Amino acid sequence: MKLEEFMLERTQSLWENTVKYNLTESGVHPYSLKELLNEDELEKILTMRLGYGQTNGPIELRKTISSLYPGADLDNVLVTNGSAEANFLTIWSLLEPNDELIFMLPNYMQIFGLARSFGINIKPFHLKEELNWQPDIDELKSQITLKTKMIAICNPNNPTGAVLSKEAMKAIVHLARKANVWLYVDEIYRGAELSGKETPTFLGQYEKVIVNGGLAKAYALQGLRIGWLVGPKKFIEKAWSYSDYTTIATNLISQRVATLVLQPELRKKVLSRNRKLLSGNLGTLVEWVKKHKELFHFIPPHAGGMAFLRYNIKINSTELSTRLREEKDVFVVAGDCFGMDNYIRLGIGSEKKYFLAGLDLIDELLREIS
Ligand SMILES: Cc1ncc(COP(=O)(O)O)c(C=O)c1O
Repeated sequence: MKLEEFMLERTQSLWENTVKYNLTESGVHPYSLKELLNEDELEKILTMRLGYGQTNGPIELRKTISSLYPGADLDNVLVTNGSAEANFLTIWSLLEPNDELIFMLPNYMQIFGLARSFGINIKPFHLKEELNWQPDIDELKSQITLKTKMIAICNPNNPTGAVLSKEAMKAIVHLARKANVWLYVDEIYRGAELSGKETPTFLGQYEKVIVNGGLAKAYALQGLRIGWLVGPKKFIEKAWSYSDYTTIATNLISQRVATLVLQPELRKKVLSRNRKLLSGNLGTLVEWVKKHKELFHFIPPHAGGMAFLRYNIKINSTELSTRLREEKDVFVVAGDCFGMDNYIRLGIGSEKKYFLAGLDLIDELLREIS
């Protein structure tokens, strides 16, 4: 099997920990355990025995996750190492070479690259900037054939931060049901809505819907590497057996922290701290873009720690990102990572001072280029 490079993750992996100002993150400035938990909880973690634990996720955690989804119980849930593992298990366990996968673009390109490496045929449909990053439903409809096995989407979307309208959600579910195909929804950015109004889950809207989730974005706990799959019990059982071949289990400390964070009171506190940070930085970015209105255009994101900016400068996006990194020590994601030159993705989830310093450095390069 020939694996294509996952450009976004590979590029981030190379530089994100060595640049001074990393604005490539799509999540929020991470918590420390000390900020998050009380002394009693911390002490309990210190004395935990670090065995394997339950490989599909401890009962209490799966119950807690299932309580976030209407109609789900603990057997509808598999706990995974990040939502990245959830994506991997879904594609690996449900699709065969030559199957057709209809894939929303722009998108986080893990499923795209992986499916192509597995010999699955990808047929795209697009969110369109002129539609405020809503989908072209006619395009989706025209892509469905008898060979289609799955429609995979990301809502809220990476990189645009767009949230599907009610009508678009309904239309997508309708088309999936009519074609009797899996509808896989990457919902990792749910909970990180700037308005505070949580995006409705697709789960439960049709019997072949599977969704993922996790702690890396809205919860600002990337390093715990906790994600999950929620879907029909038969599928969850199958995905669990596939995870015997990937990572066996998630780690016990992360499981414990996840169980605590997802309890209603702490969950609310964490989500509201993160939304506040994102809204503050988005306000700053809107002002910054106003100052550069001849160079940048963007539709402000509704969710997630990122903004997707189209620019009007004669330079390729990878070159722009490289120059910013090499000359100014500030790192942004090139639109090329999403197959969309002339865009950059800017992380808006860092602490305000850090974010402002990063923007100032971008300003400096822009002045030099022009
Ligand atoms: C849409 C989307 N899905 C999945 C992931 C993987 O996230 P994690 O494995 O950290 O939960 C990311 C990371 O950026 C993402 O943007």
